[in-house]
Amino acid sequence: MSKKTILTGITTTGIPHIGNYLGAIKPAIQASENPAFNSYFFLADYHALIKCHDPERVAESTRAIAATWLALGLDTDKATFYRQTDIPEIPELTWILTCQTSKGLMNRAHAYKASVDANREAGKEDLDDGITMGLFSYPILMAADILMFNADIIPVGKDQVQHIEMARDIAGRFNHQFEPLLNLPEAQVDEETQLIPGLDGRKMSKSYDNTIPLFVEADELYRLIKLIKTDSKGPGEPKDPDTSTLFQLYRCFATPAETAQMRKSFEEGIAWGEAKKTLFEYLDATLSKPREQYKALMSDLGYVEEVLLKGADKARAVAAENLQKVRLASGIRPLTYVAPKSQVTLEKKEKTDEELERIEAGRQRAILMQLKPLLDQVANAEDKSAAAKALLAEKQLEVESLKKKARQKAQNELDLLQQELAQWL
Ligand code: TRP
Repeated sequence: MSKKTILTGITTTGIPHIGNYLGAIKPAIQASENPAFNSYFFLADYHALIKCHDPERVAESTRAIAATWLALGLDTDKATFYRQTDIPEIPELTWILTCQTSKGLMNRAHAYKASVDANREAGKEDLDDGITMGLFSYPILMAADILMFNADIIPVGKDQVQHIEMARDIAGRFNHQFEPLLNLPEAQVDEETQLIPGLDGRKMSKSYDNTIPLFVEADELYRLIKLIKTDSKGPGEPKDPDTSTLFQLYRCFATPAETAQMRKSFEEGIAWGEAKKTLFEYLDATLSKPREQYKALMSDLGYVEEVLLKGADKARAVAAENLQKVRLASGIRPLTYVAPKSQVTLEKKEKTDEELERIEAGRQRAILMQLKPLLDQVANAEDKSAAAKALLAEKQLEVESLKKKARQKAQNELDLLQQELAQWL
């Protein structure tokens, strides 16, 4: 069985906290140890430029995130670990994909819509006030990150699922337009790690200012843990572990047996101060070694830089090859290039049935997206049956008037229209 490719990136705008560790970095490192996967992990610093215009902060976050992955034991011989901006193929692919992405698709992106909504609520006349083209086309850059390496599985938080869907749509459109070169990725959302609570009990997140940075010194770690919200139950009173942030955090680190023991202590009325001390000691013991490692790496950034550049070499070998195919397929070719006729069929044969099915499904979705206005016209017509027949007749004429490749494309569209309109015929 061919290996699945798993890929994920972290935007370099912050310092990693416990939520990032449990939700993204730890499971990613585990996956990279699994020989069933090829893994690509990267620092999304082009993405950082979208939401952060403070250069010091972007640079510091990039150092911290790079050192964090390494301090936690990522084996860069197993995983390909790189900085997005070291891969010039990514912005190039972004442009090629931008030319295949309908503006309407981007209008629907949550991040963009949220900014428009905020402007509307603030009573701004210009609903696009303060919105950059970077923010607007953010999902295309993300699609390029993913499609560049033909990734299969993208572990992300819930807020990113829409972006993976968009990457699929964009890939489908490219495949339909040119050649089926791009793999359709799938988002993987781990429900459990979505729920890691922060100091105030809400999801741990930079935007709530409730995080525990991963590698703070022991006394700071203890100070933060003491800030975790509890209820007013006194020592000796039974406490509910399932609604306790302390217990939830402990559970994320401890073994099942230790967790069961802690649950018992809660039911037997452990004092909050005692529970906080136990959590602190557990976290401190778990994190002290990687913390030392992190400090060592942060004072040897030349080494970290070297690791990243080596990762970039590895990533670029794959990216350059894939980009070359994409360039040729879309018409960016040496003047003397002659397309080999059998190339497409050969590549198709190497794919499994399941892959072909997925490509086909994506291709159909992409065609349907383009045909949607026509289908809407029929759906809104008074005499739907007449409208459907007229549309199909028109399309049939178009098919007949075209030559070879264009004809095949129109024929595909006609077939899909026939399927979609069957109910009116
Ligand atoms: N946008 C993602 C986030 O903010 C980070 C990211 C960039 C990413 N490119 C990616 C994640 C590609 C997965 C795959 O979390």
